[in-house]
Amino acid sequence: MIYKNSLMSSQNILLFTPFKVRDLELSNRIMISPMCTYQAKLDGNAHDTHLVHYGQFALGGAGLIMTEATAVEARGRISAGDLGLWADDQVEPIKRVVDFVHQQGSKIGVQLAHAGIKASTRPPWEGNGFLDESDASIGIKPWQTCGPTDKPLANGWPSPIALTKRDIQIVVDAWGAAAARANLAGFDVIEIHGAHGYLISEFLSPLTNTRTDEYGGDNGRTRLACEIVEAVRANWPRSKPLFFRMSVIEGVGVGWSLDDSVKLAKKINGLGVDLIDCSSGGVIGMQGKFAIPRTPGYQVFLAAGVREKAKVATSAVGLITKPKQAEAILQAGQADLITIGREALNNPYWPRHAAAYFNVDEHFENWPARLGWWLDKRAVMSKASR
Ligand SMILES: Cc1cc2nc3c(=O)[nH]c(=O)nc-3n(C[C@H](O)[C@H](O)[C@H](O)COP(=O)(O)O)c2cc1C
Repeated sequence: MIYKNSLMSSQNILLFTPFKVRDLELSNRIMISPMCTYQAKLDGNAHDTHLVHYGQFALGGAGLIMTEATAVEARGRISAGDLGLWADDQVEPIKRVVDFVHQQGSKIGVQLAHAGIKASTRPPWEGNGFLDESDASIGIKPWQTCGPTDKPLANGWPSPIALTKRDIQIVVDAWGAAAARANLAGFDVIEIHGAHGYLISEFLSPLTNTRTDEYGGDNGRTRLACEIVEAVRANWPRSKPLFFRMSVIEGVGVGWSLDDSVKLAKKINGLGVDLIDCSSGGVIGMQGKFAIPRTPGYQVFLAAGVREKAKVATSAVGLITKPKQAEAILQAGQADLITIGREALNNPYWPRHAAAYFNVDEHFENWPARLGWWLDKRAVMSKASR
């Protein structure tokens, strides 16, 4: 049975107006942010946990659900529990998740990713450190990381291999092949993970990319990102949208800047990217004095800056937790989509509760009937007893 998540507004609430991009129409402006679960099987495959995890967001009424970082190469996993689309047999298990989300009336995108020098690590709740022989003894073997240079992530960390031009071609091809698999799995959107100090972001940053060949320098640092966009676009239907998550700044007053992001946004928009998902932070910029203060809506100004200066659609993310706050961002023209991360972990039904807050779905008609019918009855009863 297909349920409608069409939380339509009669009151001009932008959060609940559809968003059309290429041939895709989202029923509302709420996107669930990509968030690693660290739960995949060691072969990168999805299973029941992913079905329930992503399924809960679909039941909760999000217009678009973005999966966690999904590796295009096995060595590009952040942790041994990352999902992957580097092999053909990874399509069917994730397709089960995609099909379920579609049955609930939501759309689903996959965030394709390569962790670069930040690969081969433990989950955050186990300290985020690099895998070593102690992990091998419990069946999780560390693997060789790679990046723009052989400089490690931090002192004492294993050295990555510096990608040669031939290696780069292999990586770019892997992005293209993963995009084709994402289409076979039935995803509606691909988001390229170009943020947070992972491989693409490592190439973009002047702090981590000190190469002297055509993939380095002021003109060359964006080359890898552009080649990846082209490879993904070539293997992804023209009818389907392509998003790019960017660290619009990598830290306060350091490295990759808003101006750099505006230039790149314009360029990749010309190559077929439809929306920039505006985040922040890089290898160095996430730490110490360069860290961006995390106050409510702390990255909204980045989405607004890129949207205004590059004339590209954007999504705002980062401590957006209140329906009124989300609506104000849209009303001010600061972003086209609102991306909800940890608040959706706290409350997967956030979109439906936001609709209730704005009286957009007064009679629970957009909920699956097995839930909404009862909730409406309860509401009528409680009104009558007042
Ligand atoms: C558990 C967890 C996992 C995350 N994994 C990813 C990821 O796979 N890809 C990504 O781009 N960002 C990832 N992020 C960052 C979130 O997508 C989001 O940008 C960040 O949490 C800020 O938004 P929020 O304040 O709404 O949570 C992760 C965040 C959390 C909390």
